[in-house]
Amino acid sequence: MARCLYFLDHKPHPTGPHKRLATGSPTTMCGIIAYVGRDEAAPILLKGLQRLEYRGYDSAGMAVQNGTRLEIRRVCGRIDALNERILKFPISGTSGIAHTRWATHGKPSVSNAHPHVDTAGELAVVHNGIIENADLLREQLRRRGHTIRSETDSEVLAHLIAEQKTKEPRLQFAVSRALRLVEGTFGIAVISAGEPDKIVCARRGSPLMIGLGKDATYAASDASAIIQHTRRVVYLEDGEMAVFDASGCVIMRIDLMSKVDMRIEEIDWDVQEAERGGYAHFMLKEIYQQPESIASTLRGRLVGGEDPVRLGGFHDIAESLRSARRVIFTACGTSWHAGQIGAYMLEELARIPTSVEYASEWRYRDPVLEPDTIVIGISQSGETADTLAAIDLAKRRGCPTFGIINTVGSSIARLTDAGIYLHAGPEIGVASTKSFTSQVVALTLFALCMGRHRGLAPERVKQYTDALTALPGQVQEILDRADEIRALAARLLEHDNFLYLGRGYSFPVALEGALKLKEISYVHAEGFSAAEMKHGPIALIDENMPVVVVAPRDASYPKVLSNMQEVKARGGRLITISSEPNGLSELSDELFTVPHTLDALLPVLTSVPLQLLAYHIGVMRGCDVDKPRNLAKSVTVE
Ligand code: G6P
Repeated sequence: MARCLYFLDHKPHPTGPHKRLATGSPTTMCGIIAYVGRDEAAPILLKGLQRLEYRGYDSAGMAVQNGTRLEIRRVCGRIDALNERILKFPISGTSGIAHTRWATHGKPSVSNAHPHVDTAGELAVVHNGIIENADLLREQLRRRGHTIRSETDSEVLAHLIAEQKTKEPRLQFAVSRALRLVEGTFGIAVISAGEPDKIVCARRGSPLMIGLGKDATYAASDASAIIQHTRRVVYLEDGEMAVFDASGCVIMRIDLMSKVDMRIEEIDWDVQEAERGGYAHFMLKEIYQQPESIASTLRGRLVGGEDPVRLGGFHDIAESLRSARRVIFTACGTSWHAGQIGAYMLEELARIPTSVEYASEWRYRDPVLEPDTIVIGISQSGETADTLAAIDLAKRRGCPTFGIINTVGSSIARLTDAGIYLHAGPEIGVASTKSFTSQVVALTLFALCMGRHRGLAPERVKQYTDALTALPGQVQEILDRADEIRALAARLLEHDNFLYLGRGYSFPVALEGALKLKEISYVHAEGFSAAEMKHGPIALIDENMPVVVVAPRDASYPKVLSNMQEVKARGGRLITISSEPNGLSELSDELFTVPHTLDALLPVLTSVPLQLLAYHIGVMRGCDVDKPRNLAKSVTVE
């Protein structure tokens, strides 16, 4: 059992309009596959789960209908372990549902793995999404005599549907009635022991498609799970439900139970393209997922009122936060850059001295540590060896420790006393993109919570919560203009050296932009504070040196303007990223504008064009952007 207090106060799910996978699949953590046909279901479901493995998961399971019984097999760990379990305890039947879970709501464990069943074990559900009123429903269900066996929100669905089934025996009607009681999002597949060879699926906010085969029908959250069987698919829209058997499928509205016309589409991608959701690379997919991953990081955490930021267990550790006199962030790589931004925010909003340390340096430095210093590890993977060792050091010195982590149940999450999960979804591209923007968002939430504990005015917090709420849409606006960055990349292709400059909140963005470019395209790039340029880097500037300046209209803007003039005066080629459309086009050789927001949140917006720039230069130079040479996604050795 995880002994730390982590802020598992919600489960992320995609938002916004349903998108065809060709234009980007919403962020989903877990995978669903369902099958009904003439063949044994278990091997087909297992194969489908394997196809979903690339997304990352920590547990898996399946339910197969065997006559009038349901057979359930679940494991914590790999799909191979599920396979072994099925070999040891075989299951037989021609219809079933299966799931890979990436823990977000309750630790990775067998009891939290899907499928979940009702009290009698006659109905099984797999679910992606979040049931926002799960706590209330769970309590009500308990009072009505249901046995709840997991920590998940998903399990309530099985009990609710079973309860409705006593009033309305046909599964689809029971599902429809149950879903009307539910707040939140779902992509579900349901089977019932009493109705052999029938599967019901429904969707609100979590992608789900139906695959139409010959004498077989499938459902999946992701085309890669079924593409080897059929390319004829129907994408469920929000509010729709599919009822199917081996011979075909009917689509209905969940609320009215009225039939909807089938919109059959042909998928023409190969398996690898399907895994990437139709994108050329995982990195690009993850860049495009940012409106959803940011929304996921925020979901359930902005609650309005005087203290509008809710971070689950924050109150349990509020005392150490209140009495803290110093904060130290420790991290590596991109996470260290996010830490820099977090440090600026904590000092500005919570007025607490904060520093940021490379974990690899700090752990060997015999640092001065007092028990009132909070040490916060930032890590996408939660497994980076140096960050883990730095947290361990802090613990041994008696400091309260925190984690800002994407991977639930990871080593750093387990080692720290408490923390915040990003809920950004699995990140597969080696270069971190969506994790960075979610880290900045999570750090903002943390700084606001700390700020409120230390006297930050509610009006100020309100400005931030409004600005945070607007971020996903603003990132989407930038992504809608990605072609401009692609064209810019083509114009910059001839260069082998780049400088990236920024000041204030944009300084870490310059560092991150330069890191992205070198990681992905093997082009030499260095980031500096624009103010430091005159202490050395300015000697490098001539007409062959593109200088990317992150210059949004923030408190540093007037100063950065003069730094830009210094570059221009030496013949440098200025590529400007700004939120200020006026007055920069003459000074800049290239200008890309982002929407405006609060100074502290500008990094979320200005980093997106820099991610795209690195990506396109990398692709144009023929680099393997998802797996750059010599780099690893998770550096678990020193
Ligand atoms: C590796 C990755 C980077 C990442 C760094 C820290 O170097 O290639 O993208 O920023 O590790 O990883 P973490 O998982 O701790 O954030």
